[in-house]
Amino acid sequence: MKPKLNHRLEMPNSNNNNSNQYGPYSPKLPKHNRSLPRSINYLLREQRLLFTLIGILIGSTFFIIQPILSRIGPSEAHPYTRSGFTTRHDLRGVGLERRSAVAGRVPAAIGARRLRVVVTGGAGFVGSHLVDKLIGRGNEVIVVDNFFTGRKDNLVHLLGNPRFELIRHDVVEPILLEVDQIYHLACPASPVHYKYNPVKTIKTNVMGTLNMLGLAKRIGARFLLTSTSEVYGDPLEHPQKETYWGNVNPIGERSCYDEGKRTAETLTMDYHRGDGVEVRIARIFNTYGPRMCLDDGRVVSNFVAQVIRKQPMTVYGDGKQTRSFQYVSDLVNGLVALMDGEHVGPFNLGNPGEFTMLELAEVVKATIDPSATIEFRPNTADDPHMRKPDISKAKELLNWEPKVPLKEGLPLMVNDFRNRILNEDEGKGMK
Ligand SMILES: NC(=O)c1ccc[n+]([C@@H]2O[C@H](COP(=O)([O-])OP(=O)(O)OC[C@H]3O[C@@H](n4cnc5c(N)ncnc54)[C@H](O)[C@@H]3O)[C@@H](O)[C@H]2O)c1
Repeated sequence: MKPKLNHRLEMPNSNNNNSNQYGPYSPKLPKHNRSLPRSINYLLREQRLLFTLIGILIGSTFFIIQPILSRIGPSEAHPYTRSGFTTRHDLRGVGLERRSAVAGRVPAAIGARRLRVVVTGGAGFVGSHLVDKLIGRGNEVIVVDNFFTGRKDNLVHLLGNPRFELIRHDVVEPILLEVDQIYHLACPASPVHYKYNPVKTIKTNVMGTLNMLGLAKRIGARFLLTSTSEVYGDPLEHPQKETYWGNVNPIGERSCYDEGKRTAETLTMDYHRGDGVEVRIARIFNTYGPRMCLDDGRVVSNFVAQVIRKQPMTVYGDGKQTRSFQYVSDLVNGLVALMDGEHVGPFNLGNPGEFTMLELAEVVKATIDPSATIEFRPNTADDPHMRKPDISKAKELLNWEPKVPLKEGLPLMVNDFRNRILNEDEGKGMK
C-alpha cells in the first residue's frame, strides 16, 4: 500500500525523482508555458483550423444576409404569399396597405363607407329617438353619454347592432373620435335636472360644447348644436323669430341653462367664422314623447304621470301661461333636415300650436282620465309667460314643418308612461 501512495504523490513533479526544488509535497508549478504550443498543435493537426475558418465564414454570411432578406419583404422572399398562402407570421411588420395587397383583401373600414355620426346625450329622450332615426337610415352611430339623465334602457334595443356603439363619457372632458357628423345634445334639459347642479350644467354647456367643436375642427366633421327656445328668455316679442335676441335674466336660477346655451351658440358661431367649421344651430321648443323622464318637472310629463298615478295635475301660477308642444318624431326630422341641409341657422324647431297650461290639462284629462283634477301652486322663478315659435324660416329653407298634432302624439306617450309606471309599481311591490 505504501509505495503506491508515494508514486501518486510524486506524479505531478516530473519523472525524475524529487526534481522540484520545493520537495515532493510542494504546490504544482504553473502549466501554461507548456499548454500553449500544445493547443496550437491541436488546432493545426487534422485540418482543424481550416474547418474552424469555414464555420466562421458560414456564420457571418448568415447574419449579414438574413436582415437584408427580411427588409426585402415576405412577398419577394416567399413567392407563395401572392397566391393566398400568406401566414400571420409573414405579415408581421408589414404596413396596412401592404397587408391588404398581399392578402388580396380590403380592410373593413375602407370598403363602401357609411356615414359615421356621433350623438352626444344620445341616451336621453330626444337623443335616443334621433339615434333610432339615424340607425334606420343606415348610418353608423356612436353615442357619448354620462347617463346623468339618460338611460341605457332607451337604447337597449340597439345594443346588438353592429352599426351602434355606446360610450360612457362626460363631454366636459375631451374625446377623440373619427366621425363625419356630430349631433351635440348632451345637457340636462328639464329645470329639475339642470338646477340640480347649476355649475355642472354651465360647464357641460360651455366646456362640453368647446370640446365637441374642437373635435369637429380637428377631424373636419359637421357640428349641430341643440340650443333651446330658452335663449329667448321671457320674450318681449311674440311669436319668437330667430332674429329676436331675447330677454334673459343672466343671474337667475335658470341662467345656468339659458345663458349656458346662449354661450354655446356663441362658441358655435365663433368656430364657424374663425375656423371654418361647418355648423348648424337648432333652437328647440318644448318637445314631448315616449322615453321622457317620468318626474323631470316638464309640464307634459308631469301632467301625464300625475294622471296615470291618480294624482291631481300641478298647475303653477294661474295656468294661463302658454307653451307649444312638438312631438319628438317631428323634432328628429327637423334636426336631420338641418344637419343635411346647407344652412347654418339658427332655426326654430317647434310646433306653433299654442296651448295654455289649463288647455293642456284638459287634453291630458280627455286622453287619460276624465275625472282627473287640477291643483294650483305658486309660479316658479323666471317662468316665461308665453312661448311660440315662428317657424317660417325652417319651412322655407329646410322644407320642414311639424306633422303630429297634440291629440295624436299624446296617446303614444301615454302608452309608454303607463308601462313604465306599472313596472315601477311592480318593482315597489317586490321590495
Ligand atoms: N326636450 C325638450 O323639450 C328640449 C327643448 C329645448 C332644448 N332641448 C335640448 O335638446 C337636448 C336633449 O334634450 P332631452 O330632452 O333629450 O334631455 P335629456 O335630459 O333626456 O337628455 C340629455 C342627455 O345628455 C346626457 N348628458 C348630460 N350631461 C352630460 C355630460 N356632461 N356628458 C355627457 N352626457 C351628458 C344625459 O345623460 C342625457 O342622456 C338638450 O341639449 C336640450 O337642451 C330639449
